[in-house]
Amino acid sequence: MNIKTPKKLIEVALPLDAINVAAAREKSIRHGHPSTLHLWWARRPLAAARAVIFAQMVNDPGYQQGGGFRYGVNKEKAVLERERLFKIIEDLVRWENTNNEEVLERARAEILRSWRETCELNKAHPQAAELFNPDQLPAFHDPFAGGGALPLEAQRLGLESYASDLNPVAVTINKAMIEIPPRFAGCDPVGPRLVSDKQDMLMLYNPQSAIRNPQSAIRNPQFAIRNWGERCLWAG
Ligand SMILES: C[S@@+](CC[C@H](N)C(=O)[O-])C[C@H]1O[C@@H](n2cnc3c(N)ncnc32)[C@H](O)[C@@H]1O
Repeated sequence: MNIKTPKKLIEVALPLDAINVAAAREKSIRHGHPSTLHLWWARRPLAAARAVIFAQMVNDPGYQQGGGFRYGVNKEKAVLERERLFKIIEDLVRWENTNNEEVLERARAEILRSWRETCELNKAHPQAAELFNPDQLPAFHDPFAGGGALPLEAQRLGLESYASDLNPVAVTINKAMIEIPPRFAGCDPVGPRLVSDKQDMLMLYNPQSAIRNPQSAIRNPQFAIRNWGERCLWAG
C-alpha cells in the first residue's frame, strides 16, 4: 500500500534571505558554543540546519491531489499559511532564539501538527499502528553526521536524534554534542561558580602552568578550554 505523503514546505518555498543572513552572522558570534569545540570541516551553520529540518517536517499548505489523497488549501489561503510558517523559521534561525523555548515550542507544535495530518492520511495503512502513531514523531538519523549540526538541531526541535559517521573524531563530537548533554539537563553546575569550573578545566588542560600562574590562565579561558577539548578529541 502506498504511503500518502503531502509535499513538505522545503519542496515549495523557504525564506532564504533570512536563513542566509542568520547563517552568515552565526560565524562571528558563536564563540563559546559547544559547536566550536572542534571545527569540523563542512559543518553546516546551526541556523540553516534548524531551518531545513523544520521545513522538511512541516507539510506545505498548498492544495495537492494524487496518489489517492487530497490535501491542503487554495492558493490564496496557502500564501497566508506559508507566511505564517516563514515567520516561525525567521524567528527560529536567529542566534538569540537558539534556546528560546517560546519560539522552539511554536516550531515543535507545527511539526507535530503536520505529523498528525500525515498519520490521519495513512490511518488505513496496514502498518499504521507502527508507522503512523500520531503521538510519536518519527526519529531522526544523520548517517554522515560530521560535526553534528543536523542531529543537534533535530534534537532541539523535539525529535529523537541519532548520529553516525565513519570518522571516530566525528563520533566523539556527536557524543559530546547530542548524547551526553541531555543526561545532565536540569542538573546543578558541578562547581559553585563558573570561574571555578574554568579553573578546573584549566588544571586538566595544563596543570603545571595553571598552578604557576592561575590568573593569567583565567584571563584567556576559552582559548585554553578549546585547546584542551581538541587535544582530548584527537587523543581519543
Ligand atoms: C560533509 S561532512 C558532514 C557535515 C555535517 N553535515 C555537519 O554539519 O557537520 C560528511 C561526513 O560524512 C562522513 N562519511 C563519509 N563517508 C562515509 C561513510 N561511508 N559512512 C559514514 N560516514 C561517512 C565523513 O567522515 C564526514 O564527516
